[in-house]
Amino acid sequence: MAVFVMIVLLASFVTSIRSHSCHHACKSSNETRMMSYQDQGDNIYSLVLEQPQGLNYANPKKFISNKTQGAPAWTIHGLWLSQNGESKNCCTTLGPLDLNNISEDVHSEMKTLWMSLTKRKDKGFWSHEWCKHGNCVANTLTSKDNPTNAYFSQTLELYHKHDVKEILDKNGITPGNPYKGTEIIDAIRDEINVTPQIFCDRSKDQGQQVLIELMLCFSGTDLTPADCPEGIGYGRNEECGDKVMYYPTKFQQD
Ligand SMILES: *[C@@H]1O[C@H](CO)[C@@H](O)[C@H](O)[C@H]1NC(C)=O
Ligand SMILES: *[C@@H]1O[C@H](CO)[C@@H](O)[C@H](O)[C@H]1NC(C)=O
Ligand SMILES: *[C@@H]1O[C@H](CO)[C@@H](O)[C@H](O)[C@H]1NC(C)=O
Repeated sequence: MAVFVMIVLLASFVTSIRSHSCHHACKSSNETRMMSYQDQGDNIYSLVLEQPQGLNYANPKKFISNKTQGAPAWTIHGLWLSQNGESKNCCTTLGPLDLNNISEDVHSEMKTLWMSLTKRKDKGFWSHEWCKHGNCVANTLTSKDNPTNAYFSQTLELYHKHDVKEILDKNGITPGNPYKGTEIIDAIRDEINVTPQIFCDRSKDQGQQVLIELMLCFSGTDLTPADCPEGIGYGRNEECGDKVMYYPTKFQQD
């Protein structure tokens, strides 16, 4: 009997941890849930990329050198939905992330291209992206059978389709040098004919601005490149000033 009670208690504890991950990602959201899954034509999907070295440079306590060092030039943050220029979070209740829903090859790519750059475990990071953003994106995209796999695989596909490092290299934006924010934006625009959003941060001690994230936007179910609306994500292009460091070559120890 005691053993039975323990098992029941343990099971409910595990269940509460599992459901907590979505609750946690979405608890501050006051969005209407269960919005229409239909693509309404004004949906913008934003591929949000992270620049590991830049994040480490600006905030070494959070973006630890252990994780950012050795990461690719750009990693994935997530694929986010906005409608009419407004970010949409936690739209549906597809439940917390179940890694069993993700195919082996997608999962192994996620480990190298979509890894957590903080002390948080990869699974925690993916759960957060899935709950907050995947729940908005997954059902507006292709596969309805396994929205989890569709969310992660579509995002990886977009990442491969637009090699930001290559685009910037090709346009003379090279690691370790400072640029105007507008030069970085123009380099992307010259290549894919749409305006991205870039995000910068500043390290407390060095005062130098650094590029930390870049957002490419897409519209329609065929994910055609589109201009990124102002004001979605963290801020606006103009917050990146005249001397933005691209890809610092030294890592800051935490
Ligand atoms: C959440 O939305 C409801 C309905 O629109 C509104 O009445 C309420 O004030 C909102 N709460 C917060 C914290 O914004
Ligand atoms: C740093 O990396 C090593 C090897 O990859 C790992 O064993 C260790 O746990 C990491 N430390 C932290 C604080 O993440
Ligand atoms: C998870 O996978 C199962 C089996 O393929 C599928 O029926 C279910 O809809 C998937 N759930 C989500 C949320 O992706």
